[in-house]
Amino acid sequence: MSAVIKYLKRNQKTHLNQLLELLAIPSVSTDVKRKPAMKKAATWMQKRLKAVGCTTAKIHATPGHPIVYGEWLGAEGRPTILVYGHYDVQPVDPLKLWKIPPFEPTVKQGKIFARGASDDKGQLITHVNALGAYIAETGECPVNIKFLIEGEEEIGSPNLETFIKKNRSMLACDAVVVSDTSMFDKGLPAITYGLRGLAYLQIDVVGTDRDLHSGSFGGSVVNPANALVGMLAALKDANGRISVPGFYDRVKRLSVVERRAFAELPHSDRRFKQEIDAPELQGESGYTTLERIWGRPSLDINGIWSGFTGEGAKTVIPAEAHAKISMRLVPDQTPKEIARQVSHYLKKLAPKSVKVTVNDLHGGDAWVTPREHPVLVAAGKALERAFSKAPVYIREGGSIPVIATFDKLLKAPTALVGFGLNDDNLHAPNEKFDLDCFYKGMEASAYLMEELAELNSKPSKNSSGGARKRVGRTK
Ligand code: BES
Ligand code: MN
Ligand code: MN
Repeated sequence: MSAVIKYLKRNQKTHLNQLLELLAIPSVSTDVKRKPAMKKAATWMQKRLKAVGCTTAKIHATPGHPIVYGEWLGAEGRPTILVYGHYDVQPVDPLKLWKIPPFEPTVKQGKIFARGASDDKGQLITHVNALGAYIAETGECPVNIKFLIEGEEEIGSPNLETFIKKNRSMLACDAVVVSDTSMFDKGLPAITYGLRGLAYLQIDVVGTDRDLHSGSFGGSVVNPANALVGMLAALKDANGRISVPGFYDRVKRLSVVERRAFAELPHSDRRFKQEIDAPELQGESGYTTLERIWGRPSLDINGIWSGFTGEGAKTVIPAEAHAKISMRLVPDQTPKEIARQVSHYLKKLAPKSVKVTVNDLHGGDAWVTPREHPVLVAAGKALERAFSKAPVYIREGGSIPVIATFDKLLKAPTALVGFGLNDDNLHAPNEKFDLDCFYKGMEASAYLMEELAELNSKPSKNSSGGARKRVGRTK
């Protein structure tokens, strides 16, 4: 093992340079102009998988962006780990606020600045390099490894579930490992055992068939922009509760034990507030900040546009108004039902004189797994060895829709071991990934492979290859 860790330490510079190469590829999945870049990033991943020793590394076309699959299955009789990650990134706007061009990765003060540095290229590649270190130093890896790397995570993974359904046996595994979340704090690693789900809607409100002079017509017709903001404002009450009928019906209440565990974490509202320069924190009454983010649903306007937004003034009643809103969900809410409830309520709130269309853009289920699961315990040991600090168990407010699918279709437990930090500026200008997190992340991945191999070292009766055995099943 120490040889593998030494290898990773010795090759830090090489691994950094490879990551910088990947970060220079502008793989923005939502941008149709970036299709060639998406292909380039997929090919880059495929080449790396081959280079570190995967025996198979293939690009699978989908109706959207390609999925990269690779495997090394030389650890006979050992468990099989599926590493999931995404090579696509979020758009870069507003570009003006970046201190460096987002696709000209720059290392400054121990941090790598670039779009995708932390979410998710830098985190994903830690596992690829850990496998590479094992193969280079020992000729083998303690576990069988499969990589499932998609290019559509940031747009709701529209083609991934179909791919998993079609390739169940190829993807069969004993545990899934994902690094696409954050540590609790610098130096304090975390295992994430819960994610929120998501329902994302676009609302289009149309009044007249053309813009109107606001003097000649103002006061005589409903303005769609006024109508829309009124409807949106009615979605929440003064206590921060969402007013949509039925919205909370399936919400699982946080247990006393879990609330106590959240309260014991070294979180400070004052520091949280300072870090984001927020004048005040606000949310659903009766809940702490961590409870609001991790264990309660939320509803936010993500974008809203209508009428004249140029410089100066233009007196106009816009013909149309639009908004994109999203709801973060908790178990056992489902995106489809929430989308239906919210769109139904919006239509009910709308004045008769406007036409309202609501489109369901995408969604994903929330996910929570038992913290005492053996796979999570093994991941905890690995993090402790790499960071010299026992991890805390947390939930996250963000979403990775496919995680619930892994449970459902592959019947495999997932360990979310995040190497990011809360100030990584995910989805925002000046995204970064600390070099420390990158280097320690690779070591943690190497330890994790070892710990997961341990879990299932007892040969099982029907052992006809590692791929079919199960570790850490509770039953
Ligand atoms: N890596 C994030 C998810 C995440 C963010 C987890 C912060 C924990 C903390 C992922 O890439 C992401 O951004 N997911 C989207 C999902 C959506 C586009 C379906 C999200 O949460 O908005
Ligand atoms: Mn991500
Ligand atoms: Mn993201």
